[in-house]
Amino acid sequence: MKTLIVGNAGYVGPVLSNFLKHQNPERFVAGFDTAYYAHSLTADHQPERVLNMQHFGDVRDFPVDLLNGFDAIIYLAAISNDPMGKLFEDQTRDINQLAATKLARAAKNAGVSHFVFASSCSVYGCAGEYPRIETSDLNPLTAYAHSKVNTENELLKIADKNFLVTCPRFATACGFSPRLRLDLVLNDFVASAMSTGTIEILSDGTPYRPLIHVQDMSRVLDWASKRSLEAGGEFLVVNSGSQNWNFQVLELAQAVQRHFPNVEISINRDAAPDKRSYQVDFSLLKRLAGDVYPRVTLDEAIIELKRGLTHMKFSDNQFRQSDLIRLHVLQGHIASERLDRNLYWK
Ligand SMILES: NC(=O)c1ccc[n+]([C@@H]2O[C@H](COP(=O)([O-])OP(=O)(O)OC[C@H]3O[C@@H](n4cnc5c(N)ncnc54)[C@H](O)[C@@H]3O)[C@@H](O)[C@H]2O)c1
Repeated sequence: MKTLIVGNAGYVGPVLSNFLKHQNPERFVAGFDTAYYAHSLTADHQPERVLNMQHFGDVRDFPVDLLNGFDAIIYLAAISNDPMGKLFEDQTRDINQLAATKLARAAKNAGVSHFVFASSCSVYGCAGEYPRIETSDLNPLTAYAHSKVNTENELLKIADKNFLVTCPRFATACGFSPRLRLDLVLNDFVASAMSTGTIEILSDGTPYRPLIHVQDMSRVLDWASKRSLEAGGEFLVVNSGSQNWNFQVLELAQAVQRHFPNVEISINRDAAPDKRSYQVDFSLLKRLAGDVYPRVTLDEAIIELKRGLTHMKFSDNQFRQSDLIRLHVLQGHIASERLDRNLYWK
């Protein structure tokens, strides 16, 4: 089986690459990435070394000949959060949506059988009290969330029995990675506890934020890249996370605090209400793909992050302005004239 991971050199990609090769060393796994964050390594090895092949390029100019012979494409490439989407709105649409859809069409023409698009639970936006299921109303609040909804809608049009499309709507990721990012809530809390002695909650702590460990994400992506037609049909949108991981932000902070007893929690009671709050129902994933249902526990995730950051000798109390924050890296590339304003390398 030949698999191409598009956007493999970010946070999720290296963990996924390892997972796929560990599951089946015979599987041919290739990567394609423009390498915005290639230098933001948090491991003492190059994660791409496990791949059979690495291509560098921009998905907006994807060389379609590359698709020949692949069975599955896993599309991770993205401008990957709300603050970046706000600053790079057009590029978010172009990379997350237009390039993904164009690539999917080309993949179908090239005889690829499985296309997996990493969507997000943020499509539910401000979703009230009840857990959202896949057919619930969507309420995308940001350019990032819009790009995910629009891509799902486009992919629906091209899926068929020979071209199975899966869009896992992932909860917010957490956990260690060879390219760790600290602009994710649990990762931020652990980094904050270690480097500042305080866990700073930027909201009043009440919003719900379902999480998933990056290893469990990989399990879902692997399953989606080879699922049968019977498991979900030609086109499948599936909430991807765990019923037990619908946490309120304050609960997450308290869970981290239990591992750092002298650390304080600071809550911003004056913050404007955080509109992004949603609980999500993950039972469809369990029904369709029982075995891949998330298994990492929250404590395991915190312990792993603490261990990884300790190994890095992490102590940067200014980490929110560092290369472990995706937006900061892009801004640095632009300020140094390595990238233009459209996020093309100069
Ligand atoms: N991390 C999360 O919490 C989370 C949650 C839900 C969904 N997702 C989705 O999962 C996917 C992976 O997330 P991540 O955390 O690894 O993001 P990331 O930002 O760490 O990695 C994205 C990768 O895409 C690449 N990329 C971006 N634009 C590109 C372009 N024009 N051409 C080629 N490559 C390009 C980047 O270089 C990077 O390596 C994304 O689609 C994201 O939206 C992530």
